[in-house]
Amino acid sequence: MPDSIDDGGKEAQFCSRCVDRRSVLQGIAALGVGLAAGPAFAQDPASLPPQIGDVLVPAYGGSTTPITVADLTPAGGPIEAYAMDPASQVVRRLSVLNRLIVFRFDPAEMTADAQARATGEGVIAYTIICTHAACEANEWLADLQVLQCPCHFSQFNPRTKASVYQGPAARPLPSLGLRSENGTLMVAASFDGRVGGDVDG
Ligand code: FES
Repeated sequence: MPDSIDDGGKEAQFCSRCVDRRSVLQGIAALGVGLAAGPAFAQDPASLPPQIGDVLVPAYGGSTTPITVADLTPAGGPIEAYAMDPASQVVRRLSVLNRLIVFRFDPAEMTADAQARATGEGVIAYTIICTHAACEANEWLADLQVLQCPCHFSQFNPRTKASVYQGPAARPLPSLGLRSENGTLMVAASFDGRVGGDVDG
């Protein structure tokens, strides 16, 4: 695996808000090393995907205070987050594939499959990595109530388990199972799909 990529500047031309290819490759490489090397060379916990029992913390600002249900208001817009081991306080931010986008909705407005991945209060988390070409789908269009990816304008409906509202993305954003414990958000189940893009940007 090369540690540098010479693409003649194409990546910068592609999209300034995309997840850079090197970060994705590093995340994949970290996963590969963890799998291949076994327990003697355990993967850095900061690059592990979210683990069951993790709490969520804000993606920006460096806070390790867990996000609670009260930090989100129904349909009030999403929060970007990472999972954190509550015991060691290791934030799993080393792989960009671990970045999350978290919403809260009235559960009555959510489809049954979305409710099944959400807390009882309607908080639901998805990977922020677009399934088209791995940019960050981070634009909340409040008027349409959809999440848009700025690279090629795919749109996802977070009330319907991030189903594709508009392509070119061909599959939903994988969701992360959540539960709440005394109001604190916790990971209850792994991603329900492959995190990453389906095409080369
Ligand atoms: S990478 Fe998101 S629409 Fe293309």
